[in-house]
Amino acid sequence: MAQDGRLNGKTALVTGAGSGIGKAIAILYGREGASVMASDINEDTASAVAAQIEDSGGEAKSLRTDTTSEEDVKAAIQTTVSAWGKIDIVVNNAGIGGPQYTWEQVIAVNETGVYYGCLHGLQQLIKQGHGGAIVNMSSMMGIIGATNPIGPGGAGHAYHASKHAVIGLTKQFGLDGAPHNVRVNAICPGWIDTPLVDLIKSAEPLLEWTVGGTPMGRLGRPEEIASVALFLASDDSSYVNGTYILADGGWTAK
Ligand SMILES: NC(=O)c1ccc[n+]([C@@H]2O[C@H](COP(=O)([O-])OP(=O)(O)OC[C@H]3O[C@@H](n4cnc5c(N)ncnc54)[C@H](O)[C@@H]3O)[C@@H](O)[C@H]2O)c1
Repeated sequence: MAQDGRLNGKTALVTGAGSGIGKAIAILYGREGASVMASDINEDTASAVAAQIEDSGGEAKSLRTDTTSEEDVKAAIQTTVSAWGKIDIVVNNAGIGGPQYTWEQVIAVNETGVYYGCLHGLQQLIKQGHGGAIVNMSSMMGIIGATNPIGPGGAGHAYHASKHAVIGLTKQFGLDGAPHNVRVNAICPGWIDTPLVDLIKSAEPLLEWTVGGTPMGRLGRPEEIASVALFLASDDSSYVNGTYILADGGWTAK
């Protein structure tokens, strides 16, 4: 753990921390000195990430949380507070996508779950009275529509709708948090190489659509999103609130 870590003395809850982007965020936060509650619906992957942080000299615990359950989200925040006496950072990262999921399932995780994290995270941060940061995982599909080569709906209608909703929640909770120095911001990744895009990688026209359509000509790495999440959680972004940062290799600039 860095002596001069940018999150020294902070405690963070990261949802969906067992894989992909959430895992990269949890590990980077741990390396930067935060005490990290790695939470995921998959208890085993969450606990493996916490162990990895601890093995590297950081401080972490894990917890099974289904973000579609309001009680689970409240409990995750309270468990973080119980573990380290306070919470400073809430990362609402858990998300799903793909044709295997229904409209209701996608909205429940990607939109309602983020709402619960913002609502109860902000309440706790206001109660503590020393500010904080909430980071929501949207997507470039929260800014634009898209069509893909094998069917309508881009990344899926529910996915687009839910990620647009995350931007709306970010603006509204950003306003609610502002008088309390709680900043609420979102990240809009482009195509990032995680298990979420396995289906795309296995279908040639879709892979060409994603990689070929990205001006930088490659998928992003989870670590390239984690570094944005570090900026938004740290004091480096002390005047950034109620907005989003795109990290999409130039996709939306076209
Ligand atoms: N990979 C991309 O290209 C991409 C692009 C834009 C946005 N995103 C967003 O980034 C976030 C992370 O995605 P990823 O690519 O790392 O995917 P991933 O599948 O690798 O990781 C998602 C994690 O969320 C967990 N999860 C799923 N449902 C949950 C629930 N109900 N409660 C708690 N945890 C749950 C999963 O178990 C998994 O560990 C998502 O919100 C996703 O929409 C990803």
